[in-house]
Amino acid sequence: MIHFLLRFRQALFSPIQKIQLYMQPKIIKGEHALLDLVDVLKEKHLTHYMILTTPGFIKRGTLQSFFDALNQNDIQYSIFHDLKPDPEICDVEKLKEMFIKEGCQALIAIGGGSVIDCSKAALACIQMKNIDVKTVLHTGRVSKPLPLLIAVPTTAGTGSEVTAGAVITDPIKKRKYALSHLFLIPKYAVLDASLLTSLPSKMTAYTGMDALTHAIEAYINCFNNRKTNEYALCAIKSIFQYLVPSFEDGLNKHYRLELLEASYNAGVAISNNYVGYVHAIAHGIGGMYHLQHGMINAIILPIVLEEYGDAITKKLVNIADIVGINGCTDKEKVERFIKKLKELNRIFSIPTSIPEIKDEDIHYLAIGAEKEGNPSYPTPVTWDVEQFEKVIRKIKHGYTI
Ligand SMILES: [Fe+2]
Repeated sequence: MIHFLLRFRQALFSPIQKIQLYMQPKIIKGEHALLDLVDVLKEKHLTHYMILTTPGFIKRGTLQSFFDALNQNDIQYSIFHDLKPDPEICDVEKLKEMFIKEGCQALIAIGGGSVIDCSKAALACIQMKNIDVKTVLHTGRVSKPLPLLIAVPTTAGTGSEVTAGAVITDPIKKRKYALSHLFLIPKYAVLDASLLTSLPSKMTAYTGMDALTHAIEAYINCFNNRKTNEYALCAIKSIFQYLVPSFEDGLNKHYRLELLEASYNAGVAISNNYVGYVHAIAHGIGGMYHLQHGMINAIILPIVLEEYGDAITKKLVNIADIVGINGCTDKEKVERFIKKLKELNRIFSIPTSIPEIKDEDIHYLAIGAEKEGNPSYPTPVTWDVEQFEKVIRKIKHGYTI
């Protein structure tokens, strides 16, 4: 009965999500897309931009030609780069204050998911003037359109440049909070391959596996439509084709751009059809032990797919066909596909387990995952807290190859 009610509620929300297919950001893409953005900014006639990025990008001088182009065109801006890898509530508060203090009208977020998510959260809080940041994040309340947000991803993984969500860490409660609203979708996504060539191979792998998890979870969830499936399958195919080459040759801009597009497509897929229990579990583990999100997903993904069992056989067979995995029976194809995921992890030196998980934390993590996943994510099966505990125990001890 509970299962039926959860599914009924998900079905009610499903049509709303389909609207997101038509609310995608405008894409500017190519080797020097960031410089092309300047022409767009010139036409906006806004008085002051906030640029949020990472200390590494400033130190390496990667953005200097962009700053020069802004200066040449008299476009005013302030730079904020004092941000932690996993943005916390205090980072959102700092960015909000700085944006208001500098009299900014728009925000350009140049960085990975952390930078883009922090930007979304700060802009949402700026719009909710009379409510403090903590309350906005805890309640997930976003009720007004955001100031102009331009997302420039420097990793190919989170898809935050297209999604309607943002994840922020609460270090006191050791939890991650997910904001979700159509207003959080950036107005522009700038896909510039040259910004990714300095990304270390380890991060290429982690973020690529995050994008792969997005595409797979969106595809195997219930209520997906033809268009969502196209985006998800297209992303899965590209990631299988280009992630290992990009891991081995990070300077290749063609591989980088293919992965940026794959990550974007996976982002569209989850905007319409959400992630699933891999993410529901990963958010709790990430918040508790400060491990990299994509790496956690990569470890959890094969374990959760095995636990979903027969409910996803047909869909995993379709994915196996798309990526060229053969087998005499459906069961064999599914086994080989999951084995391939484990093999990718081995190539990227991603561990098979998360031994950091403490026994005494498992119940808390399971409660958090259940709360996040049910009924928000239209997963192919529904688990209770006890089932989550069982799966988290498996993740702690790891999968066999
Ligand atoms: Fe993710």
